[in-house]
Amino acid sequence: MRRKRLTLKIRSKKRFSNKKLKLPYVSYALPPIVLFCFCVFFYCHFFTSSPANEPPHSISISNHSSLAISTELIPHSISITNHSSLSASPPPPPPPPVYEKPNDQKIVYEKPCDYTNGRWIRTKRNPLYNSTTCVNLKESRNCIANGRPDLGFLYWKWKPSECYLPRFEPNTFLQLISNKHVAFVGDSLSRNHLESLLCMLNTVTKPNGFSHQSFTRWLFPSHNATLSFYWSPFLVQGVERNNQGPRYNNYNKIHLDHANMRWEKDMDQMDMIVLSLGHWFLIPSVFYWDDKVIGCVNRPVSNCTTDIGFYGPIRRALRTALNSIIKKKVKKGNGIDVILRTYSPSHFEGAWDKGGICSKTEPYRAGERQLEGENAMIRRIQFEEVERAKARAKELVKAKPKAEKFKGFRLEVLDVTKLALLRPDGHPGAYMNPFPFAKGVSKHVQNDCVHWCLPGPIDTWNEIFLEMMKNMAQAAEE
Ligand SMILES: *[C@@H]1O[C@H](CO)[C@@H](O)[C@H](O)[C@H]1NC(C)=O
Ligand SMILES: *[C@@H]1O[C@H](CO)[C@@H](O)[C@H](O)[C@H]1NC(C)=O
Ligand SMILES: *[C@@H]1O[C@H](CO)[C@@H](O)[C@H](O)[C@H]1NC(C)=O
Ligand SMILES: *[C@@H]1O[C@H](CO)[C@@H](O)[C@H](O)[C@H]1NC(C)=O
Ligand SMILES: *[C@@H]1O[C@H](CO)[C@@H](O)[C@H](O)[C@H]1NC(C)=O
Repeated sequence: MRRKRLTLKIRSKKRFSNKKLKLPYVSYALPPIVLFCFCVFFYCHFFTSSPANEPPHSISISNHSSLAISTELIPHSISITNHSSLSASPPPPPPPPVYEKPNDQKIVYEKPCDYTNGRWIRTKRNPLYNSTTCVNLKESRNCIANGRPDLGFLYWKWKPSECYLPRFEPNTFLQLISNKHVAFVGDSLSRNHLESLLCMLNTVTKPNGFSHQSFTRWLFPSHNATLSFYWSPFLVQGVERNNQGPRYNNYNKIHLDHANMRWEKDMDQMDMIVLSLGHWFLIPSVFYWDDKVIGCVNRPVSNCTTDIGFYGPIRRALRTALNSIIKKKVKKGNGIDVILRTYSPSHFEGAWDKGGICSKTEPYRAGERQLEGENAMIRRIQFEEVERAKARAKELVKAKPKAEKFKGFRLEVLDVTKLALLRPDGHPGAYMNPFPFAKGVSKHVQNDCVHWCLPGPIDTWNEIFLEMMKNMAQAAEE
């Protein structure tokens, strides 16, 4: 049933060599990079969107002491799939998934632990992968290949206050997702997270990747496991700001009352969803409810008179997404696991467009950097909405007639905000591009202080993710 539906949906398949892990990108689903930045206080936000190659231009925000500026860069690594030519000579479909029993490796369960609080300590161990073992690493994240000279940032591990965080075990992870489909839904940071996971899994087995208009999938035939990425930076319906081309659109249009159909329509095929949101709400946006304008943020248009900020909209969008999952899953009685990955802070020093950089080469020490301001607020909203959704799901389950089987709806938080906040050294910075100083250091060089180098501290997110999966599997057995 599932196989058939999958096959029908795939308009353009791309088979990938088994020798390499490739990260395919589709032009529509995964638009290339735009960098937007709000210099609020002393650092900025910075993230990705749409295709263009223009000199940066600035937009002033009247209701801010600061500026919002955007620049757009074409990432070299994004390949545009020509759908029509692909469908003209379709490649063979991926082989049917066969689940071979993996090595009978005993999964060791750690005691559940609070991974949120802790510190970064030095380690001598090498990262699980490098750009040789994970070929086709997205260029803009491949900091070492791009010439980043200081490698010290690779040699830190997260030490939770009350326990140890084990190293990522790719085989254990694959065992836990055997016969499952785990979908990542979000923006380029969600993709960054998934790319780290793929690089780590790639050290033991090679997936077959393929792209569709609304998602990219990686099948692990050895475990009949599927990972997928759905580009949906708002989680709800909307049109992303796009400074160029025929779909020119100077601001986001975000419909807070409808979950984005791109991922919502495939929900029945998913066993686990990893959701995240944040940065895209900070740029000029108009918010809609029931197709009516309810407010905006950062003056997207001159007739926007009601600045409602971005906290309320982030909360509403998350609530709408979670409600949609609850409605579809809990009411139908077939459960799903939902992981909300919390906000990932950025680390600009100075104005991003005046040489703003992330120059640190070491983590912050305990107490050196507090969780505060937007980082704290967005994370708090995410926790509050998860609690709210849990309570709502519970109510719905209670109201169900006893005879109705319910397979469970689980909702957990993957809290990365604090550990990420302490890693100003983990971003590509100037090494988002190859050898940025080859022509001299005086030249202005764009920095990326939002996404994370691969390998890098973002790999820790997956170590915690694995521990969560182990605990969930254990809880299900009990
Ligand atoms: C895509 O492929 C079609 C059919 O092969 C071809 O006619 C068209 O020019 C291609 N478009 C691009 C942008 O390469
Ligand atoms: C990458 O890792 C492999 C396996 O651990 C190792 O043999 C190789 O030397 C590494 N390559 C680089 C460039 O560090
Ligand atoms: C393969 O995995 C899918 C979930 O992605 C599941 O629905 C299907 O039953 C699995 N197939 C087998 C043979 O277990
Ligand atoms: C601004 O005015 C235009 C034209 O009347 C309208 O279509 C648009 O919805 C307005 N935007 C806001 C945010 O009120
Ligand atoms: C400007 O922002 C402040 C909060 O920073 C808000 O209280 C105020 O209503 C906003 N004013 C306008 C005109 O949007």
